[in-house]
Amino acid sequence: MAILETIALTKIYGRGAQSVPALDDVNIGVEEGEFVAIIGTSGSGKSTLLHLLGGLDRPTGGKVIINGRSIFDLNDDELTVFRRRKIGFVFQQYNLVPILSVYENITLPIELDGNRVDKLYLDKLVKTLGLAGKLDQLPGQLSGGQQQRVAIARALATKPSIILADEPTGNLDSRTSQDVIGLLKLTSKQFNQTMVMITHNEEIAQLADSVIRIGDGQVIGGSRP
Ligand SMILES: Nc1ncnc2c1ncn2[C@@H]1O[C@H](COP(=O)(O)OP(=O)(O)OP(=O)(O)O)[C@@H](O)[C@H]1O
Ligand SMILES: [Mg+2]
Repeated sequence: MAILETIALTKIYGRGAQSVPALDDVNIGVEEGEFVAIIGTSGSGKSTLLHLLGGLDRPTGGKVIINGRSIFDLNDDELTVFRRRKIGFVFQQYNLVPILSVYENITLPIELDGNRVDKLYLDKLVKTLGLAGKLDQLPGQLSGGQQQRVAIARALATKPSIILADEPTGNLDSRTSQDVIGLLKLTSKQFNQTMVMITHNEEIAQLADSVIRIGDGQVIGGSRP
């Protein structure tokens, strides 16, 4: 059964003459534990789709169903809690809190939920991402690629069942990109996490279990093993 599914998902930004149709009747399904890459040109609607999959924004029409539950039936507060428990986001912009240290940024979602930090898991995560010596620094003292790795660690720290990543390796060199995707794959298999990742990079898309191609707000193709 699909853990994540969309039914006739539509998003139109703005109103009237200024309106922009960003998604048009998107129907996709993602299996539990699957690693799906979303690929498409700039402006094709990838980020819009990812935001809707994670309940960060509400659609103009259609549904997102996660674990059999239509998430937009939840009110905003319920949706926030649901998101925090279930979903790990890695954004195109890293969205790190500038006044918090690397360690505090990574553990923030755990603290927000009133949970205890799994030290062993966190240690492993931090080491694999090459952040061990950086935990006391502020995001502003790190390179772009290092900040991106902090954002990835933060997304994985809560062991979410679904990881939604928007170009998580967009600012990394190709070797580090492969390492980071390798890590994401490893942890997602280890913890039976489902991963949906946007990329422009065909090579990275080939590392996924399946690929969904988006063009002009519609699914224009895909591949399954
Ligand atoms: N908040 C917004 N208000 C109005 N229009 C928007 C908004 N966000 C996105 N759009 C429009 O919706 C369309 C899809 O945008 P989206 O950000 O989903 O594209 P994308 O595929 O992620 O592109 P990129 O690869 O450049 O990140 C674009 O035409 C964009 O201009
Ligand atoms: Mg985008």
